[in-house]
Formats: sequence, C-alpha cells, structure tokens
Amino acid sequence: MNGLSPNFVTLISEPRTDYTLIDSGAGRKYERYGDKSFIRPEPQAMWQPALSDWDADAEFIPGSDDEGGGRWYNHRPVPTDGWPLCWNDEVTFNAQCTPFRHLGFFPDMDPVWRWMRGKLTGLAEPDAMNLFGYTGVGTLALSAVGAKMVHVDASKKSVAQARVNAEMSGMTDRPVRWIIDDAAKFAAREVRRERRYDAILLDPPKYGRGPDGEIWRLEEDLPPLIADCRRLIDANSRCLFLTVYAVRMSAMALGALLKSHFGDLPGRVEFGELAVREQTRGLLLPTAIFARWSQD
Ligand SMILES: C[S@@+](CC[C@H](N)C(=O)[O-])C[C@H]1O[C@@H](n2cnc3c(N)ncnc32)[C@H](O)[C@@H]1O
Repeated sequence: MNGLSPNFVTLISEPRTDYTLIDSGAGRKYERYGDKSFIRPEPQAMWQPALSDWDADAEFIPGSDDEGGGRWYNHRPVPTDGWPLCWNDEVTFNAQCTPFRHLGFFPDMDPVWRWMRGKLTGLAEPDAMNLFGYTGVGTLALSAVGAKMVHVDASKKSVAQARVNAEMSGMTDRPVRWIIDDAAKFAAREVRRERRYDAILLDPPKYGRGPDGEIWRLEEDLPPLIADCRRLIDANSRCLFLTVYAVRMSAMALGALLKSHFGDLPGRVEFGELAVREQTRGLLLPTAIFARWSQD
C-alpha cells in the first residue's frame, strides 16, 4: 500500500424515507424519523435555523450538567414502545425515544453500510463482524446482501432489540450470531481461534462497559482492538470501517492508526467525516469521524 491518502473524504447521509434532517441551528436540530419529528440538542449547529416554525412531536431538553442527563418532552403523543421504520426498503426496525437522547439507531451510518455492501459485492457468503453493533440495523443491512454476520454488543437490551429488528425485517433465518460480550475480549478470542473476516465494522463509544463490568476507554483500548482486527483480516479481505463519535480526536489520527496496522496489505486507507445533509438548505451537519481500509 502507498502512503495514507491525504484527501479528506466526506460521507453524506441524504434525506430519505426513514430519516431526514429537516433544519438545524441555534444549538438544536429538527429531524424526521418516519412520520414523527423531533428536536434534539446539537452543539455544532452554530448557525441560525432556516425555518421559524419547528413543530416537533417531542423535544429532548438536556440536563444542566455536561454528563448527559435531560429528558424528552412530548408535544404530541409518541408511542413509548417505539414505531417501525424501514431502511432502504430492506431492514425494518424499531425507532424509539431513548433516555440517551438517541432514537434507537444512528441514521448517519447509512453511507457506511452502503459502502461496505459495495465492497462485499461478488462474494457468495462473506464473513462480516459488527463490533459495538447496538440495535443491529448495520448488521441487518450487511446480512441483507448475503453476509454471514457476527454481531457483538455488551448490552443485553440492545442485542434483544437487534433480534426483534431481525424479526421485524423477516430476517430470522439469516446467518447471524448475536453475541453479548465485551468487544475487545471477543475480538481477542476470535484471534486465538484463528478466525478471519472479509469485513469488520466498529462503532465504539468514547466510554463503555462490557457485560462483566470491563471498562472501555476509546483512547487506551482502541489501538489494541485495531491490532486484533488486523489479525482477523487478511489480503483477501475486503474492508474495515471505524467510526468515532463525540471525541476530541482528528479523523487524520484514526487514519494514521489504521495505516500503522493495515499498511502491509494491498489497498488503501482513507479518513474523513460522516455528515447529514439538511433538507432545507443542503447544509452539511457533521456527526462523526471515520477511517477505513479497503482492499481495492
Ligand atoms: C455508538 S453505539 C453503536 C451504534 C451502532 N453501530 C449503530 O449504528 O446502530 C455504541 C454501542 O457500544 C456498546 N458498548 C459499549 N461498551 C462496550 C463494550 N465494552 N463491548 C461491547 N459493546 C460495548 C453499547 O452497548 C452501544 O450499543
């Protein structure tokens, strides 16, 4: 592989049926999840909103501390158990207002899943792993193109929801191993078992806990996990995609980390940002940084 490409890549999530960023500004964003609309805090929206008539079903008002906190306030009734949404006419899943201000899936991952699906084209039953897989929309998006999936998340509740989402999608017969485990421990075990994967997706939080209280700290624990992922990938593998949210870190550093481990393989390492296109003005709202390796 030649050097790390210095070109910054922007991966844009466009307005679509399951999700649209309608407007943003003044530290908030106005979004539509299916037929329900929400207002959530968005510190990066430092401009003024385009519209003056935000009319959401619910709004998340943050707590006064920086540590999260806060709660949803409904302006109209929103089903507490959630409502079905469909990604790309293929994956049906439950959207829900969570206490963590999310809606049960991360809509900005759309171009990530599409890129990975493209990289797996032509393989009959590629082996793919989704670490920190949450409610499984990404797992099911890859499964829908024939991948044999390993889905790993520390949260029993998230994995249970992922299984429900597989049912809602009519995909329970697909080869998916649903695993509740610490991502780093599981990857290390896979290395010992001499497993290999065609594709790996990792979406780690800044801070998390494994099911047995294992502590995950991104800056300390990501490098050894990437080293293990490299051992699970070989020259015939297709890709690895790493996304990172809400951390003081540059995409360039993620790119350099991947380059340091994947530089001996053919292909290339790229890095950049994920962004969502606002419907009203076409403005891009950044959501995460990423780095990726692909064989071609
Ligand atoms: C940012 S979310 C992933 C979002 C998901 N990729 C998606 O697009 O829907 C982070 C996930 O990491 C999980 N997690 C946190 N610490 C973990 C650990 N040590 N091992 C495995 N999963 C962990 C959380 O339960 C949560 O589901």
